[in-house]
Amino acid sequence: MASETKDAAPDTGAQRCLKDFAFPSPEVTACPYPFYAALRAEAPVYKYPDRNDYLISRRDDIMAVLRNTEVFSNRTYLGDPRMLQGSQKGWVENPPHTPGTAIQTSFGLTASDPPEHSIKRRALRSLVDPRYIRASEDTLRRIANELIDTFIHEGKCELRTQFADPLALLTICELAGYPPEDRAIFLGWNRIGTGHGRRYLTDEQRKAQDEDIPERDLYCAAIIRDRLANPKDDFITGVVKAQVERDGEINLPYLVSEIGLVLTAGNETTSRLVANVWKLLIENPSELKKVLDDRELIPNVIDEALRFEAPTQWTSRLVMQDTEVGGVPIPKGAYVLMLYGSANHDESWGDPEAFRVDRPGIPELNMAFGGGPHRCLGNAIAIAEGRIALAVMLDRLKNPRFAPGHDAERENIDNFQKRVPKQLHIEFDAQ
Ligand code: HEM
Repeated sequence: MASETKDAAPDTGAQRCLKDFAFPSPEVTACPYPFYAALRAEAPVYKYPDRNDYLISRRDDIMAVLRNTEVFSNRTYLGDPRMLQGSQKGWVENPPHTPGTAIQTSFGLTASDPPEHSIKRRALRSLVDPRYIRASEDTLRRIANELIDTFIHEGKCELRTQFADPLALLTICELAGYPPEDRAIFLGWNRIGTGHGRRYLTDEQRKAQDEDIPERDLYCAAIIRDRLANPKDDFITGVVKAQVERDGEINLPYLVSEIGLVLTAGNETTSRLVANVWKLLIENPSELKKVLDDRELIPNVIDEALRFEAPTQWTSRLVMQDTEVGGVPIPKGAYVLMLYGSANHDESWGDPEAFRVDRPGIPELNMAFGGGPHRCLGNAIAIAEGRIALAVMLDRLKNPRFAPGHDAERENIDNFQKRVPKQLHIEFDAQ
């Protein structure tokens, strides 16, 4: 147990030089924070080896990029066809847009720039209405309790597959109106990552994603057609009806993008948050004790876990004209990778490598949800889900600890963009 916890002697590690790191490398994927610290100190705008890509590691530089949507575009597919998924490949030459309407491309929210992006974002607003999220809290609590009921008698679980993944998925099904009985199909699509990360996957990993995408698109198209024919009192029906009323005819590719995005964007990310919270609390027993003694700390625990292990470590933008960031010239056609995980470990946090559940002032500076016009649409859902799941688990899973014999599975998954252990086997007192 002692070797599994950090509380006794937090190892912040001595500052290493940039030249000591190979990048990309398994070492950086396993724990990127020493690499980020070296970047911030020596090369805050750093050219990715052998690529026309620049890593941006300081918070102020990242915010400057996020706010300048004319120079740093979300239409990242324009610079590299590997960004395109499934049917999107045909849209670049033959855009299936509705001429004369405000929406000129069928690409979804994440692949659009203002002003078109603002229209697409408004169209999804009802999902994240704070009153709607508050009114759904009992439903979120019920989902968390029902999942725990399935394993609590065993005194152990693999937290990602038995709790975090289905929790995130069932939540979005309930909130948006996807059929929860299809959850096995949706869980199979967890390989569908973000468009941003596709350029950095191996051909094999990209092929695995591409196998899932046509199935997801067909599924979403069927739901959209069904809601047109048989309207329901749900978010999906609202989005579909509003688009047809606004544009005069259905824009199916655009709707498929958005309905697919909402179904998948919050699943893996929120699941990663829930798994990270438990890994961090068990690794830091004195922090776990603080929140067990004072449940008022629950919101802060979620914020600190998001800061400490940002589930999405970075996203990217395409550079539309020659420019500079932090005094470093960046050519048109390059990509910038905004390292949110680095901004969240910036020295200005004070003791950034310590996980402290009573750290003050986290939400204002936390970059786990990005920033600027594309800041995570679902952040309030993720936070509500994280807080409720934590409260229910603290009440029901007594004396939580890592299950012996699973140390290797707690390493990060093999992905430089995502922070989450491969698996999280835990034990608790059976009831
Ligand atoms: C802990 C959980 C989550 C994390 C860490 C997270 C992270 C992020 C980040 C970093 C971005 C910004 C992308 C960029 O900079 O280009 C983003 C965007 C987005 N997120 Fe989340 N997310 C989470 C949960 C959710 C949930 C539950 C939803 C549910 C609907 C959601 C929906 C979206 C959407 C639709 C966007 C695109 C926003 C836009 O382009 O305007 N996310 N998310």
